[in-house]
Amino acid sequence: NNRHWEECMEFAVQTARRAGQVIREAVKLDKCVTTKSSAVDLVTETDQQVEELIISTLRDRYPSHRFIGEESSAAGERCFLTDSPTWIIDPIDGTCNFVHSFPMVAVSIGFAVKKELEFGVIYHCFEETLYTARKGHGAFCNGLRLQVSKEKDVSKALILTEIGAKRDPETLKIFLGNMEKLLKAHAHGIRVIGSATLALCQVATGAADAYYQFGLHCWDIAAAAVIIREAGGVVMDTSGGPLDLMSRRVIAAGTPEMADYIVQQLHSISYERDDHD
Ligand code: IPD
Repeated sequence: NNRHWEECMEFAVQTARRAGQVIREAVKLDKCVTTKSSAVDLVTETDQQVEELIISTLRDRYPSHRFIGEESSAAGERCFLTDSPTWIIDPIDGTCNFVHSFPMVAVSIGFAVKKELEFGVIYHCFEETLYTARKGHGAFCNGLRLQVSKEKDVSKALILTEIGAKRDPETLKIFLGNMEKLLKAHAHGIRVIGSATLALCQVATGAADAYYQFGLHCWDIAAAAVIIREAGGVVMDTSGGPLDLMSRRVIAAGTPEMADYIVQQLHSISYERDDHD
């Protein structure tokens, strides 16, 4: 089966590149923008077209596999993992960036078997950089091996986060309070780049020391989790427990010490699980 997953990953790479080309063309055109869970949770026709392109391409080749996609879920499809080989897809991660032509947009394709993540492919559409990892085989960016940062001390850390779609006063207070705590601990800086997957890739390359977020989705985490782990990093739940792909929250870091420190600082923001009924 290992050989088979390797072939699946090669096909995922080709498919992500094709999708990225569609996104690069579409960003130049007028966009038809609508909203989903909140006024800042955006979707465009391109998100839907690209998801359709990716899923139909993969389904033609692997008809027995299952698919979880951001836009299929938004359209009401149930989102849950079974033991079957399952593709977990974000056609455009960084939709708000895409809408503004802010050049941080990625295609993310993760793959799980028996509920275990096997490989991840993330394609930065504008830089044309490709992040890949397969369980047990290392993580790469454009073919070069990735290694996370070894930093343990928050006062020497560059930390990334994302805001999430909820913007009510209580949520904002917790979000800003979490940032304040890390700034008071003298983190070198905090960045919000508008794409959870590309932010997570920065942890894999060692450019960032940690990432945390409440409110992201399984399709934002799946591919990146394999890439970070294969680059030597840790990906866990914000409680400090094991990662729960459907829980809408994550901490990733180069070292367990850094992750544990951030776990201690964060107040939780609750979002409805991806696998809710
Ligand atoms: C979103 C982006 C955003 C993050 C959200 C994600 P989308 O993905 O990664 O930066 O804050 O939580 O859902 O909607 O652009 O695919």
